[in-house]
Formats: sequence, C-alpha cells, structure tokens
Amino acid sequence: MNKLQGKVAIITGGASGIGKGMATAFVKEGATVAIIDLNEETGNQTIKKLQEYQPESIFIQANLAEHDKLAGIVKQIADKLGKIDILVNNAHASKMSSIEETTQKEFDLSFNTGFYPTFYFMQAALPYLKETKGNIINFASSAGLNGDVNQVSYAAAKEAIRAVTRVAANEFGPFGINVNLIAPIASSPGMLQWAEENPEYYQGMLSRIPLRRLGELESDIGRVAVFLASEDSSYISGQTIMVDGGATKLR
Ligand SMILES: NC(=O)c1ccc[n+]([C@@H]2O[C@H](COP(=O)([O-])OP(=O)(O)OC[C@H]3O[C@@H](n4cnc5c(N)ncnc54)[C@H](O)[C@@H]3O)[C@@H](O)[C@H]2O)c1
Repeated sequence: MNKLQGKVAIITGGASGIGKGMATAFVKEGATVAIIDLNEETGNQTIKKLQEYQPESIFIQANLAEHDKLAGIVKQIADKLGKIDILVNNAHASKMSSIEETTQKEFDLSFNTGFYPTFYFMQAALPYLKETKGNIINFASSAGLNGDVNQVSYAAAKEAIRAVTRVAANEFGPFGINVNLIAPIASSPGMLQWAEENPEYYQGMLSRIPLRRLGELESDIGRVAVFLASEDSSYISGQTIMVDGGATKLR
C-alpha cells in the first residue's frame, strides 16, 4: 500500500468523520498528514492513531472561521513537513433552516466555515502545490446539487465551492494541479446527529440510495480520496465525484 508514499497532505476537519476516514486511508498509503480541526480532544485522539502509521503527522487546532489565520497555518505545515502535495478541504459547519426562517447568521456559519476556508486554503497552498504538481479535493453535497429543503445556507455554500473548484481546475491545470470534488453520503458523527434530529428526512434519504446503506468513512470515502490524490487520477480535473451509493446521477 504505497499509492501516496512520501506525500504530504492537509486535511481540514480531519479529527473525525469523513476527514478522519480520509486521513486514515492516506497514512495507510504512505502519506504524512496534517489534520486541522476545531475539536482539540478528538484531534489529539485521532493524531495518535495516525502517527502509528506515519509518525511525522501533525494536528493543528484551529477554527477555520478565523480566516486571517489560514495562510499562516498553510505556511506552518509546509515549513514543518517540507512541502504540500495534497489539500483536502473537508470541514464545513451549517445549520438547517427553511428559506423563510434563514437569516444572515446561518449564511455566515456556512460560508465562514465551508466556502471561505476552501477558497483561502487553495489560494495559500497554490505556491506549494505548483512545486509538487499536487492535488486539491474539495467537498460538495447532494443538498446543493438537488436543492434539499431546509438546507439553503449549506446548499448555497456547497454550490459556491463547486463553482470555485471549476475555476481552480482551469486556472491551476496548466501547473499540473488537478482539482476535484467529492459529494459523499457517509456515516459520520455529523450525519448521524442530523439523522437523529431529522428522522423523516433521513429515512427519505436512505430510500433514495440504490445501494441502501450509508458510506463507510475510510473504505468508501477514504479510498476514493486516495484515488483522487494519487497518480491514478492525474487526468481527471474539475469533476464532482458522487460517492453516495448511487443516490444522485450527474448528467
Ligand atoms: N456525512 C455525509 O453524509 C455528508 C453528505 C454530504 C456532504 N458532506 C460533506 O462532507 C464533509 C465532511 O462531513 P462529515 O459528515 O464528516 O462532517 P462532521 O460534521 O461529522 O465532521 C466535521 C469535522 O470538521 C470539524 N469542524 C467543524 N467546524 C470547524 C471549524 N470551524 N474549524 C475547524 N474544524 C471544524 C469538526 O470538529 C469535525 O471534526 C463536509 O464538507 C460535509 O459538508 C457529508
């Protein structure tokens, strides 16, 4: 297992959920990872497990909504680990509300934790990714693609992320950098909490998944992220990859 041997990857929200699943898949393939997360406790627990595979891996506690700190974090990681090959913009917080009920507050949460960090991390990592001809993986959602009810602030930020990803694929492609999106469905703590709070929406969602199960964090989503971060996908860019058991079919 050495598809990412010697690579350095940044994964936002890497302490738990899909971010942890990807970080685990990455270290097993030989990458050193820098996970960035708000949650210090889960961050410290996760990094210990990752270091069993790649001892140089690091955890940085940070709130991605503090945008003026993001470029400094990228530099700190590059200085410590020597380079950046892979940037995964995974973390995203949001709160459900209908269009009627939504205020600036919900938009601020979703854009400040999801859209802006994705943009500022891509901007800050670009000089390093030019050196390595690296990869970027951003995160989309079927909520944006399908316009799910009560998800307006989240859906809007996710589609904005898809838009900047397409621009980045065009602007960064000449430097040998490919930029793609994963749109997952997976059994993360965030998803399981949402399911508990919204049982009727959850059952509806499950019934629309042809494979009739939630994705596994490491073996389903993590492995696709390994593929997108590896040489195997070097001629794929600007694409949204649905890793959702067949729920949404892009045309
Ligand atoms: N789980 C799914 O089925 C699903 C579906 C569609 C899209 N997604 C997307 O996949 C990605 C991962 O989702 P998940 O379900 O694993 O999420 P999650 O909520 O389970 O985990 C998110 C992680 O990000 C961290 N985080 C949250 N806000 C942060 C902040 N401000 N600064 C730093 N870290 C922060 C959390 O501490 C947590 O470790 C997200 O972009 C999400 O929108 C997930």
